[in-house]
Amino acid sequence: MASSDTLTITDNRTGKTYELPISEGTIRAIDLRQIKSGAEDFGLMTYDPAFMNTAACRSAITFIDGDKGILEYRGYPIEQLAEKSTYLETAYLLLKGELPNESQLKEWQHTITYHTILNENLKGVLDSFRYNAHPMGMLISMISALGTFYPEAKNIYDEEVRHKQIERLIAKMITIAAFGYRHMVGMPYAYPDNDLSYPGNFLNMMYKTTEVKYQPHPALERALDVLFILHADHEQNCSTSAMRSIGSSQVDPYSAVAGAAAALYGPLHGGANEQVIRMLTEIGSISNIPDFIKRVKAGDGVKLMGFGHRVYKNYDPRAKIIKKVAYEVFDVTGKSPLLDIALELEKIALEDEYFVKRKLYPNVDFYSGLIYQAMQFPMDMFPVLFAIPRVSGWLSQWQEMLLDSDQKIARPRQIFTGSARRDYVGMGERKA
Ligand code: CMC
Repeated sequence: MASSDTLTITDNRTGKTYELPISEGTIRAIDLRQIKSGAEDFGLMTYDPAFMNTAACRSAITFIDGDKGILEYRGYPIEQLAEKSTYLETAYLLLKGELPNESQLKEWQHTITYHTILNENLKGVLDSFRYNAHPMGMLISMISALGTFYPEAKNIYDEEVRHKQIERLIAKMITIAAFGYRHMVGMPYAYPDNDLSYPGNFLNMMYKTTEVKYQPHPALERALDVLFILHADHEQNCSTSAMRSIGSSQVDPYSAVAGAAAALYGPLHGGANEQVIRMLTEIGSISNIPDFIKRVKAGDGVKLMGFGHRVYKNYDPRAKIIKKVAYEVFDVTGKSPLLDIALELEKIALEDEYFVKRKLYPNVDFYSGLIYQAMQFPMDMFPVLFAIPRVSGWLSQWQEMLLDSDQKIARPRQIFTGSARRDYVGMGERKA
């Protein structure tokens, strides 16, 4: 390493100078520990709530340049994958690092297809939920319950076992998700059909009624596949960090995926698409938009849902693709009545100084909800639709973490702000 690739720090408390190596644009936080104000001092730490400027891992999976609006999986631009790939091929790419050749893809598709079936006992778990249980709550519980059927899953360092669980999880996500929906609407469970593609099979299990064979509409099947590709991974976001953090305890992947799905459920993450539709419905008409924008700008807790991103500060490349997909879906389903409100809201926000100054642009969730709604998915299912493909990203990241010799159990530090040591106070001596 050239000596210029270092950072010189002078600690003004002691007058001592330290030289820390800079590698890949980072310094190692642990190198700061040697900087002490005295013998009793623990050593310097960084304070970084919400990980605003901390790289928690080295990863070769997904690349994002937020300023330029670039998203790549294993080097392939998201635009090319959305146009030319399928979700299953993309999942293979994320997990294995390379696109499959023809026979590898065939085998992968076959394996996933033949693992979509669930153990019948799992239906008992679903049946115990109330009719109005949120499908995301059911999904999280079902993923966890699924893991109990495969006790060998805890052998996470056995490559064969690990791969088997990855196949099972990716395959069974669509079945669990669709069964949750059928429970919610009181319809009999529709079983997987091995003749169908991954998204086609999901639509089959969601919507099949009395027909002998369900035929998904090819345009809607493709639209769903593109949405799955766009949602498959997004490097170290909230749910993926949860996946890595939980997985770092060496728990089985079902438990870790259940935890990651719980993180995804929140309205600032995978729940945002649901919130977008609620917001557009609440706005109700184009004439109400200026008033709504005023409330957002007043900062009284109202946010323009589907806008803004921690990383993208130019545009979200997924939003561009999704907008195009939305029109392809509306050609089949008819236009969403909320589309005009969304378009006008986007136009006003993109011109408004408040949003421009803060670099707030439509994100992946701004249009995905409109597509899902047009495809007859109830709003509660939106985060589930995000979780289905993200499982391949979570598992890719989890596997990478397990094989990374730099990684250990995740254990952040804290700055303690509580009471100094004090003696226990008996009940009779406590203040009223
Ligand atoms: N509407 C109005 N103001 C906003 C919004 C918004 N959607 N997002 C950020 N701001 C403001 C925020 O109030 C702050 O203003 P100020 O500087 O005056 O305090 C400024 O913009 C910077 O925002 P921030 O909260 O520091 O940004 P962040 O990086 O912490 O948050 C975010 C990113 C996605 C959580 C946030 O933009 C947000 O809550 N957006 C709405 C929810 C949403 O659409 N989430 C989906 C994210 S994309 C899918 C995914 O990956 O999960």
